[in-house]
Amino acid sequence: MNQAVDAAPILSVREISKSYGGLHAVRQASIDIFAGEVVALVGDNGAGKSSFIKMLSGVMQPDAGSILVGGREMQFHSPADARSAGIETLHQSLGLVDVFDVRENLFLGRELTTTKWGVLPVIDTRAMRRRTEELLARIDLKLPSIDAKVRSMSGGQRQSVAIARLLLEEDVRLLIMDEPMAALGVNEGQKVLQLIDSLRTKGLSTLIISHNLEHVFTVADRIAVMKSGRLIDVVNTREVQHDDIVSMIMTGRPLLAKTAAPA
Ligand SMILES: Nc1ncnc2c1ncn2[C@@H]1O[C@H](COP(=O)(O)OP(=O)(O)O)[C@@H](O)[C@H]1O
Ligand SMILES: [Mg+2]
Repeated sequence: MNQAVDAAPILSVREISKSYGGLHAVRQASIDIFAGEVVALVGDNGAGKSSFIKMLSGVMQPDAGSILVGGREMQFHSPADARSAGIETLHQSLGLVDVFDVRENLFLGRELTTTKWGVLPVIDTRAMRRRTEELLARIDLKLPSIDAKVRSMSGGQRQSVAIARLLLEEDVRLLIMDEPMAALGVNEGQKVLQLIDSLRTKGLSTLIISHNLEHVFTVADRIAVMKSGRLIDVVNTREVQHDDIVSMIMTGRPLLAKTAAPA
């Protein structure tokens, strides 16, 4: 990431709020996300993390505040709106079909077609294979075989295929993930972290919710901490220790408060 060269954030979230009835799940939360950075969002259960990202992925709308993409204010009425602004979200369900192979899963519901003898529409398997190979090369994702059914794959590979599926269109700018590694073993989680890391080098940004501070410290450039609906602070990973993050999660006080002179 080089903020000096490209200082405009791809996404600016300004004081968004969300209530469920009388419960304030998110309170005036703000963050800027820049191209090619990984931001981790951490906080206790119920802190408001999922509610926060649901507003960025168009799953629900903020009660107040604004969301800007490339400097333009957006209203996401649906996930499709967020998607057309370049924001893709990986869901825990992954949305893969077990008995299909990699190519079939990537093109599920958007199969490429061609015409036979100039008239008959037919599925263009060759073009989809080629685009699958191009995509995997573009995102540096190595899979044993693109002809393998996803049910034969490990958890990390399946998750990687689900991520690849979101990146088939090349205009994705931000990938959002809510606890992607929660169901994976240690090694499998590492593979997904490697993929996120390599996507960063291609200029893609990731906003990732994780409970696992090891993962967070491995992959994130910055860490955003939420508590009781408030986005407390966003800190540079390099400048903090695990204990600092744990303390922010627990106390809900920004890091500077720790070293501030007593009143
Ligand atoms: N659909 C909902 N209806 C009512 N309350 C909800 C709903 N979703 C979340 N909440 C409440 O909003 C608060 C924030 O939840 P959530 O965003 O899921 O936090 P986190 O992802 O950090 O655990 C919690 O108190 C939770 O119980
Ligand atoms: Mg959650």
